[in-house]
Amino acid sequence: MESIRVSNLVDATRIDTEKINAAASFVKDAPKIARYSLADSADGSNSDMDYHIEIINKDDKLRVLKFLRRFFFRDEPLNQYIKLIPEGEDSTCIELEDYCSNASLGNNFSLMAVSASGAIVGVILNGKMDPPSSEEPEYIWSCTNVKFKKILRLLRYVDERVNAGGQFRDLNIMEIRIISVDTNWRGQGIAKALIEKTVEIAKEQEFHYVRADCTSLFSAKLCARAGFDMVYKLDYSDYVDDDGKPIFSPVLPHTSVTSYVKKL
Ligand SMILES: CC(C)(COP(=O)(O)OP(=O)(O)OC[C@H]1O[C@@H](n2cnc3c(N)ncnc32)[C@H](O)[C@@H]1OP(=O)(O)O)[C@@H](O)C(=O)NCCC(=O)NCCS
Repeated sequence: MESIRVSNLVDATRIDTEKINAAASFVKDAPKIARYSLADSADGSNSDMDYHIEIINKDDKLRVLKFLRRFFFRDEPLNQYIKLIPEGEDSTCIELEDYCSNASLGNNFSLMAVSASGAIVGVILNGKMDPPSSEEPEYIWSCTNVKFKKILRLLRYVDERVNAGGQFRDLNIMEIRIISVDTNWRGQGIAKALIEKTVEIAKEQEFHYVRADCTSLFSAKLCARAGFDMVYKLDYSDYVDDDGKPIFSPVLPHTSVTSYVKKL
């Protein structure tokens, strides 16, 4: 299948929820759902910095994973701190790939920003949150990658505390699981646009909340600006091992993991 459907570019204007719900045949032909111009071009014509946002479907899985391997797997603050994957073009973390694929790729809630030349320049992986459980889920305790398991355990620790008050019980929550932008395209509002589209989809799909656990100060700032409320914060210096040593000390300015929710 042709991976980029440039011919639809100009027609795309908004997310159509009915189409999101429609049969798989639609997903294959999904139109572009938004078009943005990062260029200061008065006539709105295509430029090198134009991009649009589209729903990720199953056929996009390999190139989305390739994108995430190149960026998120290396430069998300915790992945970077623990050197989740070794240097090298083809290195990866299979467990993180599974984490991305299993719940978020092909569920029609995840989005990618695609440049005018057809390259993926940003990805947001979203999914419906599982109800809180008192037991550690199997995918965490059975994870054989020691480094990735540490991250899963941190996220679980955060989740337990967010849910401690019971205020999110029995609600449908859209979770932002991964957000990543190509280093050459950062600081230009792509992540902001991906979050806004996620909120739009979640609203249309009648979710009660959107939630994001932010391991980076930049994603936390983005959520705050998008009208999310911070419901939990854990300083990395307070998350320690048996010897009292912090398990994660990512580079500044990433000093805490924060949990943000937006009521829809
Ligand atoms: C977090 C991330 C997705 C933001 O993408 P983006 O498209 O650059 O984000 P936006 O342009 O919409 O806005 C980001 C905000 O953070 C700031 N920001 C982003 N990267 C920055 C950097 N390296 N240094 C300083 N500020 C930065 C932007 O300036 C902007 O804030 P502002 O409006 O006050 O200027 C991107 O930095 C990234 O992929 N990081 C690595 C992966 C990661 O950490 N993901 C989040 C884990 S929860």
